[in-house]
Amino acid sequence: MKTVRTAALLAAALASSVAQAQNTGKLKVGLMLPATGTFAALGTAIENGFRLHVTEQGGKLGGREVEFVKVDDESDPAKATDNVNKLIKRDNVDVLVGTVHSGVAMAMAKVAKETGTLLVVPNAGADAVTGPMCAPNIFRSSFSNWQPGYAMGEVVAKKGHKKVVTITWKYAAGDESVRGFKEAFEKAGGQVVKELSLPFPNVEFQALLTEIAAAKPDAVYTFFAGGGAVKFVKDYAAAGLKKNIPLYGAGFLTDGTLEAQGADADGLLTTLHYADSLGTPKDNAFRLAYAKSFKLQPDVYAVQGYDAAQMLGIGLAAVKGDTSKKAEIAAAIEKAKIDSPRGAFSVSKAHNPVQDIYLRQVSGKENKLVSVASKSLADPGRGCKL
Ligand code: BEZ
Repeated sequence: MKTVRTAALLAAALASSVAQAQNTGKLKVGLMLPATGTFAALGTAIENGFRLHVTEQGGKLGGREVEFVKVDDESDPAKATDNVNKLIKRDNVDVLVGTVHSGVAMAMAKVAKETGTLLVVPNAGADAVTGPMCAPNIFRSSFSNWQPGYAMGEVVAKKGHKKVVTITWKYAAGDESVRGFKEAFEKAGGQVVKELSLPFPNVEFQALLTEIAAAKPDAVYTFFAGGGAVKFVKDYAAAGLKKNIPLYGAGFLTDGTLEAQGADADGLLTTLHYADSLGTPKDNAFRLAYAKSFKLQPDVYAVQGYDAAQMLGIGLAAVKGDTSKKAEIAAAIEKAKIDSPRGAFSVSKAHNPVQDIYLRQVSGKENKLVSVASKSLADPGRGCKL
C-alpha cells in the first residue's frame, strides 16, 4: 500500500515538473512583499490589486493558472538575498513580483539580473532598478523615487517658496525622493537649506521637528510612507508646525493613511501618479471591483499591484505562457500601452512607467485631484545601458 502511494506521489511530482519545464503547468508567481512592519498594509494592497486582475482573467495569466508562493520580506534588506534565492531555487517560481522597500528591491533586482528571472517591481522606487541595474527582464509597474519628488520641486517653486527644509528616512527611497525634489526646486531658483533624516523605520521625530521650528523655512518637503507617514503627519500637526510652515510631500505621505491621520492630514498637498477622484471609466470600474472584493478603498499600492499583473499578463499572452521566451515577453511589454486606473501608460527604455504626476489635496478621506503637475514624466534612467 505504502509503495503504491509513494509511486503515485512520485508520478504526480514528475508530471508537475515536466509541465513546468514545458511551461504548460501552473504559473508559479513568487510574491515577495512585506506582511509585517511599517509597510505591511502596502504589501496587502499590492497583493489585493494583483489578485484582482488575475481573478478578472479567470485565475490565469498567459493562459496558465496562477499559483502564488509568498514570502514576508519584512522590509529588511539584510534578509532580501536569502528570501529571493529561496523563491527562485527552492520554490522554482516562474516569475517574481516584489517589493515595497527600495533596499530590498535592489537585492531582488541583482538576483533577477544574475538568474534572468522575470521581475516586476510593484512599488519600490529605487532609481537604480531602472538605472544602473536595469535589465531586459526587469520591469516596474510603479514609479521611480525621482518622479514624484521632481514634480513637487516644480510645484513648490511655483508657489513662490524660496527656502525649504527636507525630512525623510535615511535610505535609498528618502534620499532619492529628496534629490528629485531638490533638482527641480533649485533649477527654479529655490534653495534646500537643510536636509534632515532619521534611520528607517524610526519614528522618533521630535528632535527633528524642533530643528524645523528653529530653522523657520518657507516650507517643508518630505518622504514618508505607511505607518511612519501616519505618525509624521500627526506629530507635525501636534508640534504646531502645520499652521505655520506648509508641508508638502511625495504622495505616499497621505496614500492609504487617511483613516489613521484624520484631520491632521486635511489640506495637505502631495504629488503622485494616482489620485482618488480621477473619475475615468477604467478607474471607476477598478475602484468598484476592488471595494467589492476586499471591502476596502483602493490606494496607489493597489493600483500598482493590479498593473504589475496586467504587465505580466501582456508579456505572457504574447508567448502563450512560455516564460523561457524572455525576449518576446520583454518586447510585448515594451510596446504595450497599459490600461491603468491611473491613466494609460507605457514604459521607458529602462522599463519604468512614463506617466502623469498629479497634484492632489487631502479633503476628508480622499486625495483629491487638483491638477496634472507633470505631464508624461519620464525618469531620466541615468546609468541604464539597454
Ligand atoms: C521605497 O522604499 O521605495 C518606498 C516605500 C514605500 C513607499 C514608496 C516607496
